[in-house]
Amino acid sequence: MAFAFQPGFPTTRLRRLRGHAAVRALVREVDLSPARLILPLFLRPGQNQRQPIASMPGHFQLSPDLAAEEARQAAALGLGGLILFGIPAAKDPHGSDSYSDQGIIQQGLAAIKQAAPQLLVITDVCFCEYTDHGHCGVLTDPSSGTDVDNDATLELLGRQAVSHAQAGADLVAPSGMMDGMVAAIRSSLDQAGFAHLPILSYAAKYASAFYGPFRDAVQSSPQFGDRRSYQMDPAAAAGQALREVELDLAEGADIVMVKPALAYLDIIRQVRDRFPGVPLAAYNVSGEFSMVQAAAQQGWLDPRKTALEILTAIHRAGAGLVLTYWAKEVAHWLNGEGID
Ligand code: PBG
Repeated sequence: MAFAFQPGFPTTRLRRLRGHAAVRALVREVDLSPARLILPLFLRPGQNQRQPIASMPGHFQLSPDLAAEEARQAAALGLGGLILFGIPAAKDPHGSDSYSDQGIIQQGLAAIKQAAPQLLVITDVCFCEYTDHGHCGVLTDPSSGTDVDNDATLELLGRQAVSHAQAGADLVAPSGMMDGMVAAIRSSLDQAGFAHLPILSYAAKYASAFYGPFRDAVQSSPQFGDRRSYQMDPAAAAGQALREVELDLAEGADIVMVKPALAYLDIIRQVRDRFPGVPLAAYNVSGEFSMVQAAAQQGWLDPRKTALEILTAIHRAGAGLVLTYWAKEVAHWLNGEGID
């Protein structure tokens, strides 16, 4: 005999909340908004340069003048801000372009701040884009080229962060996973008169295959070895991520980040629960973006729906702000443009 609903049974029917679009919107608790999204930009020297990044369709290496144009658009769309990465004219063992007054980030900051003074501009503070060996710090012995010298790198990180601050950065984001990097940067900034400048620490950053397209974008693949001696092991228990976050907070981090995002939603959730009230960011990294774009090019996935679902999940897991290559598109979609 077929089962028939009796009057009053079941008393709770969740589908009642789903029948009407307005009711769905009313009971929704996770709302993406453009103000939560940070757009990464890749800067290269020159003028009027717009070099497509093959591994990241729709993204470009931009010269400062064209990056300034992007910044204007980002501000008009109401994005939360930009994060800048640099591809310097020349790389060397110490990554000296990163702390030069005439460095690519410093030039980019000047142009962007002039074009969009109100827009929040974050700089990634690391060495892998600037060193000729592609590691995230200076090496212990350049001739043997074996590993990154943690403490020698700290001093240079402080120098880089101060240089970014002097050029107009609103917030600095160390991503190199050196022990003590937040404390070193904090004390350098304080001494240079930037005690007010917040630090967003890439606190729990995993050694991930999902960075592949980014390394193509900035030509930062290590020339030898890999980053497993400083970035986290994807198989480490979540407790290690919590320790990383705890240490960075103790050192003075104002915002902490989990990276990548999609394969690490459990880590985002645990950090959120363990440290309530601490601003938490997540980086929806290049591989997470490019794999969807590639599938979309084949007609296998709807990029708009997929991107929104991924970003909603990252936000639902506990990230209050998200760094994403879809930031501009999402702002257009959320503003109702191009929605059918
Ligand atoms: C620099 C840095 C990387 C990313 C952000 N900052 C690369 C890396 O650690 O190899 C990756 C971002 C992305 O994949 O979108 N240390």
